[in-house]
Amino acid sequence: MPRGKGLLSTAASLIPEHYDLEQLKEAAAGCRACPLWERGTQTVFGEGLPTARLILVGEQPGDAEDRQGRPFVGPAGRVLDRALGMAEIERSDAYVTNVVKHFKWESQGKRRLHTKPNAREIGACLPWLDAEIDLIRPQVLVALGSTAAQTLFGPKLLVTRDRGHPLASSRAPVALATIHPSAILRVETDEQRRQAMELFVADLRVAAAALRKA
Ligand code: URA
Ligand code: SF4
Repeated sequence: MPRGKGLLSTAASLIPEHYDLEQLKEAAAGCRACPLWERGTQTVFGEGLPTARLILVGEQPGDAEDRQGRPFVGPAGRVLDRALGMAEIERSDAYVTNVVKHFKWESQGKRRLHTKPNAREIGACLPWLDAEIDLIRPQVLVALGSTAAQTLFGPKLLVTRDRGHPLASSRAPVALATIHPSAILRVETDEQRRQAMELFVADLRVAAAALRKA
């Protein structure tokens, strides 16, 4: 925990020297390394088995995740679950987490509207993700959406152009980027939604194939 009112620039100094996933989650629960801790209800840490071979990385918890304290349990999570099923990826093989672990939002009437985390918040939170990755040592890493993809693969990455192709990463032997499942919820027509889902599942099948070979 930071002393006094001073904010840490990153969460790095909060990572215990030796840890398992539970201990890491516990340490993250008290994180105040960036201002987002005050706006969110709780730290939403990653979820899954330490033996997971696939890590899925989203942007940040949404409204439902913030309330429940678990990643991808809201509408985007339901799309993700369905797509994983269609790609024949076992849930027990997947560890699900986010680049930023507090919900960032602005109020609009009674609603809490998601706003994008900035570079400082992402940088502050990244040590948690890297500690998760260090423990899990995933065979395959999938970044969901532009925020996660640019954080993990650099600012030049374009999800629309680079999705579904293996990309070089120090974090996993096979790594790729795809869209965020919430993008599927935002398309206008049923037909567009069906197509977007199909492309999303195709990207996840690249991950599934890599898992079968691993
Ligand atoms: N969107 C994300 O990026 N992560 C979640 O956990 C939920 C929605
Ligand atoms: Fe810590 Fe991340 Fe929450 Fe910021 S968003 S307070 S770095 S856990």
